[in-house]
Amino acid sequence: MSARVAVVTGAASGIGRGYAGRLAADGLTVAVLDRDDAADTLAEVKQAGGDGIGVRVDLTDPASVAAAAEEVAERVGAPSIVVNNAGIYPNKPFEELTFADWRAIFDVNVDALFHVTQAFLPAMRAASWGRIVNMSSNSIALAVTGFTHYMATKMAVIGFTRGLATEVAEHGITVNAIAPSLTRTPGTEAGPEAFFEIVPQLQAIKRLQQPADLAGSLAFLVSDDAAFVTGQTLYVDGGLVRA
Ligand SMILES: NC(=O)c1ccc[n+]([C@@H]2O[C@H](COP(=O)([O-])OP(=O)(O)OC[C@H]3O[C@@H](n4cnc5c(N)ncnc54)[C@H](O)[C@@H]3O)[C@@H](O)[C@H]2O)c1
Repeated sequence: MSARVAVVTGAASGIGRGYAGRLAADGLTVAVLDRDDAADTLAEVKQAGGDGIGVRVDLTDPASVAAAAEEVAERVGAPSIVVNNAGIYPNKPFEELTFADWRAIFDVNVDALFHVTQAFLPAMRAASWGRIVNMSSNSIALAVTGFTHYMATKMAVIGFTRGLATEVAEHGITVNAIAPSLTRTPGTEAGPEAFFEIVPQLQAIKRLQQPADLAGSLAFLVSDDAAFVTGQTLYVDGGLVRA
């Protein structure tokens, strides 16, 4: 895998940072696409013995994503692995939700998948090899309140994964999704604290999930070994959802 370049969106923090570190340890060059500074992630990438770059981008802006894709190709070469990881999850009851709230979450969690995948797919197709991994969530199967808009986006991720997997299979490209359980990250920190107690108790493995618990599954899905796995959603969630 040493010649390959992987893009991980939203990897300046949280789960994405864990992904970037693992991919670097596996010998990939990692491009972190985030609106925030990725210095801490790049330090982890370096510590893992790998190479990486950070590119500042607003994933909701197609022009910004196109410019970022060009910058990545110029600096480290065209990526053959794209991890659509960035996501937001403001907790708000549906009846208090404005249409602007609704649009804002779809902009990041769904529309950005369109912009990012459109930007990087042509090079994968030209190389006749590619791996796309998208982030869903096990919350789509849980009775949690205040996440109607979030759950709608994470179901959309699964539809996108299944549809695209079929369209690009003939080009050696696989498309899969990972559905994690709850992990404490800057994003989830803002949500209800009670979730951190309750959710692990619903899992078969009764401890809070860490970013490192997800990284091995990502490493498999982007490997040559996973060439015959596509269109799937892998629940990496301590055995909470049985799908
Ligand atoms: N943490 C969890 O418990 C959990 C559970 C299930 C699924 N997920 C999914 O995993 C993914 C990562 O979650 P996390 O908790 O690590 O997130 P996080 O909040 O820690 O990090 C998200 C990153 O995305 C970036 N980002 C957000 N909007 C952006 C934009 N418009 N342009 C550029 N960058 C942007 C942020 O700067 C941040 O670095 C998300 O898709 C989330 O829905 C997380």
